[in-house]
Parts: sequence; structure tokens; C-alpha cells
Amino acid sequence: MSDETMPDCSPTIRTIAMPADTNPAGDIFGGWLMSQMDLAAGSIASLTARGRSATIAVEGMKFHRPVKVGDEVSLYAEIERIGRSSMDIHVEAWRRERDSETGQKVTEATFTFVALDENGKARPVKPEA
Ligand SMILES: CC(C)(COP(=O)(O)OP(=O)(O)OC[C@H]1O[C@@H](n2cnc3c(N)ncnc32)[C@H](O)[C@@H]1OP(=O)(O)O)[C@@H](O)C(=O)NCCC(=O)NCCS
Repeated sequence: MSDETMPDCSPTIRTIAMPADTNPAGDIFGGWLMSQMDLAAGSIASLTARGRSATIAVEGMKFHRPVKVGDEVSLYAEIERIGRSSMDIHVEAWRRERDSETGQKVTEATFTFVALDENGKARPVKPEA
């Protein structure tokens, strides 16, 4: 996937970066972006596990470019691996300036989620046969 050609699929989440999400330098705060990525991965994890799940690890977090106030931010999350109770979900965030037709990849990382039972303990992602 090119860094300049936006993914040809629906994003898991799409939002607008607002002034309240900036760091002291005026760019969008990295923690805000990571939380959006976590939300996107969590949505896919809960759908896959058909229930509650929690983040246990984040690998390979990379910030390629800054995000500016007013950018449209799209989060693309897809399952990479399903284990017994864990799921690896790769997430990319893309920015598009409000008046531009093209976008740029701004961050990516792989989130590991664990499917949880009603007591908050790890459970199989898929029902055991
Ligand atoms: C999620 C939690 C219940 C798992 O409990 P645990 O005792 O560590 O569970 P296990 O040791 O059985 O491991 C569960 C799975 O996570 C995987 N795992 C554990 N540590 C990991 C790590 N550092 N990186 C990647 N995967 C990991 C294990 O390999 C296992 O996967 P599998 O079942 O597919 O083989 C517990 O770690 C927890 O509550 N963590 C806090 C979660 C949280 O608050 N997240 C932030 C807010 S959502």
C-alpha cells in the first residue's frame, strides 16, 4: 500500500482532529492519535471475539507524519492473527486535509487484544469445540 494512496475500503473509524487535541506545539497530540487507533482495534477485537476484550500490548508504533487541526483522520484496522485468547490487529491512521482529495499515512502499529470473560479473565476468542 502506498503512503499516498488511501486504502480502498471503509475505515473502521473516521473523525476530525480538533484544536482540543493538540500538543503545546500546535500539532495533534500523539496520545490522541494512539487512543483513536486503540478504539479502532478494540472495535474489530470485540466484533471478532463477539464480546469484551482488552489491549494487552502495542508493537511497532510508528509516527510517520504530523496531523494538523482540521484534518480528517481515518483509522483502518484489520485482523493479522487470531490465537487462543489473543488477536493481533494492525492499524493504520491516515490524514486528509479538508480540501484535498489525497491522503497520507500518519501512523501504524499492531495492537494485541485479549478476549475476556465476565470476570475479566482471558477466554478463547472462538468457542472451543
Ligand atoms: C488481559 C488479561 C486479563 C490477560 O491476563 P493474563 O493472565 O496475562 O493472560 P494469559 O497469560 O493467559 O495471556 C492471554 C493471551 O495474551 C497473550 N499475551 C500475554 N502477554 C502478551 C504480550 N506482552 N504481548 C502479546 N501477547 C501477550 C498470551 O500469549 C495469550 O495469548 P493466547 O491465548 O492467544 O495464546 C490481563 O493481562 C489484564 O487484565 N491486563 C490489563 C488489560 C487492560 O487494562 N488494558 C488496557 C485497557 S483496555
